[in-house]
Amino acid sequence: MRPIYRSPAYHFLSCLQRNHEIHAEKNIILDCGAGGVVPPLGLFYEHGFKTFGIDICDDQIALARKFGKEQNMQLNLQKGDMRAIPFPDISFDFVFEMYSMVQKKIFK
Ligand SMILES: C[S@@+](CC[C@H](N)C(=O)[O-])C[C@H]1O[C@@H](n2cnc3c(N)ncnc32)[C@H](O)[C@@H]1O
Repeated sequence: MRPIYRSPAYHFLSCLQRNHEIHAEKNIILDCGAGGVVPPLGLFYEHGFKTFGIDICDDQIALARKFGKEQNMQLNLQKGDMRAIPFPDISFDFVFEMYSMVQKKIFK
């Protein structure tokens, strides 16, 4: 079954599509706080982006990886803290974040 993502992901995608030519392999996007049951990176993957995601929580990464496997999507998820992004500068064309800067909980 085709996944349904949360609406801000569609909005962000449509802004990008209006303003940029999207070519697979040329548009690389990083999602900060990318874990969860239906990771928004799936939407960008479906539209030809090369995707990377970091999440501070192992359990959330595991859920997102399960989604990627079930959907046959190469999402490229790894553990990471968006306060110290574990990639060199200028690695990405776009950086996305959705509902991950609002939490008080301390993750392990
Ligand atoms: C409410 S969930 C949202 C997940 C996803 N963005 C979505 O919209 O479905 C927030 C996520 O942000 C992650 N998170 C919180 N603080 C983070 C940080 N400093 N760096 C990376 N991930 C973080 C949490 O582990 C959690 O998976």
